[in-house]
Amino acid sequence: MKPVAILRHQLKTRTKAGWHENIALVRPRSERRQVLRPRIASPLPIDRMNATVQFTINGKQQRVSTDSRRTLLDVLREDLGLTGTKYGCGEGECRACTVLLDDRPVRSCQADITEAEGRKVQTIEGLAQDGKLHPVQEAFVKEGAMQCGYCVPGMILTTVSLLKRNPKPSRAQIVEGLNGNICRCCGYVSILNAVERAVQPTKEA
Ligand code: FES
Ligand code: FES
Repeated sequence: MKPVAILRHQLKTRTKAGWHENIALVRPRSERRQVLRPRIASPLPIDRMNATVQFTINGKQQRVSTDSRRTLLDVLREDLGLTGTKYGCGEGECRACTVLLDDRPVRSCQADITEAEGRKVQTIEGLAQDGKLHPVQEAFVKEGAMQCGYCVPGMILTTVSLLKRNPKPSRAQIVEGLNGNICRCCGYVSILNAVERAVQPTKEA
């Protein structure tokens, strides 16, 4: 069985066991953007292959000259060494690769590097300030909201964006806000608890 098929099988098996919040966090297939494009399409005109893109990454100006067909994810991980942004499915379905583009979550595996031109990119590496974790990171640590941790950068960045737009979301709004971010370890309950803790940091440990 292919890895993606195994994931779907696991999700189906676990959701059948009655983890209703898990079901809410998995976007229905009909709503997913079905993009199965090749990583490198060909042939393309030569002028599409080279681009100089300027953007802000975690508050610093960045200039990259690269093949315009590469994804933002590839450039972040391979050129800039920002490996906190994870490669999950590469098909737009898991959101492990989420970064913030002008404060909104995007799947960096689906964004061409040229989409970053003139914009503000934030990755997990840019959240902590002066050696102090961001309050959302703190909340995830306090709730132990991670097992392998692979989904966590995407979950945290999506949460940061959600709380900017809605500082006091209800549990249902949190579920809706994280809809589509898949945790392969199925740690959804502690993740939702962590987001609630970030909303209300004085919550008892
Ligand atoms: S790696 Fe899965 S959505 Fe981007
Ligand atoms: S994927 Fe392992 S903690 Fe979410």
